[in-house]
Amino acid sequence: MMTDHARRHPRTEMIWQQLGVELTRLAEVTGGRSLDVVDLGGGSGTFAVPLAELGHRVTVVDPSPNALATLERRAADAGVAEAVRGVQADAAGLLTVIDGDSADLVLCHGVLEVVDEPRTALADVATCLRRGGACSVVAAQRHAAVIAKALAGHFADARRLIDDAHGRWGLSDPLPRRFDEIGLATLMDDAGLDVVEVHGVRVLTDLVAGSVVEDPGEAAALAELEAAAVREPAFRAVAAALHVLARRGDDGTRTVPG
Ligand SMILES: C[S@@+](CC[C@H](N)C(=O)[O-])C[C@H]1O[C@@H](n2cnc3c(N)ncnc32)[C@H](O)[C@@H]1O
Repeated sequence: MMTDHARRHPRTEMIWQQLGVELTRLAEVTGGRSLDVVDLGGGSGTFAVPLAELGHRVTVVDPSPNALATLERRAADAGVAEAVRGVQADAAGLLTVIDGDSADLVLCHGVLEVVDEPRTALADVATCLRRGGACSVVAAQRHAAVIAKALAGHFADARRLIDDAHGRWGLSDPLPRRFDEIGLATLMDDAGLDVVEVHGVRVLTDLVAGSVVEDPGEAAALAELEAAAVREPAFRAVAAALHVLARRGDDGTRTVPG
């Protein structure tokens, strides 16, 4: 059973909802068997463990030993240790630890912003997928960062975010890059992934003080507000992140453009 926290936290609720639709489709095409899931950069298992609780086998590929130790504890606490495997590797080594054509679902959440080569990472994700398999990508969006910086009164940073080719606000920006919808969809297409859905996530939740989001009484109301905002396409461009669901292209022409 999915943990309440994972499902109800306003910052991830909409991602779970979209993922749920894809899990239902995958259950139909696989006859309801346990899915083989790879969570690239899956960290401490905030998605991996709830997916294992749903009955799937999840391999988390992440370079951080600390995150993997937390993953192991979290999986054990949830009683799904046997269904969750942590592998220490980064995106560049994905195909050395995961076989091609072996995954029904690959998650790549909050990772494309930090990997050395996002194009190669996505092409390798596509290679891991079985025919009909899906991938779920969440990536930070530049426009939202502009708004957040402006609201905080950091106008020069906001301006640099608009002008910088990689969507960074300066040398001390911890993120190497941010995306917009066209750029992200093009990257995925180039990797041989057919985009089927794009949603904005955290349209409003990131603009609200953390203490409000953590308050259980307010969290439900905020989640409802967020769900309404996400349904309005106009809000998508200013969401903190984009959630893209894609499926493996079946024409066998996956290549990594230079
Ligand atoms: C923002 S966290 C996201 C964690 C998780 N995917 C989630 O959505 O909760 C980014 C994760 O990417 C991992 N990471 C950093 N560099 C990476 C790389 N080159 N390849 C794969 N994962 C990486 C980090 O260790 C961290 O666990």
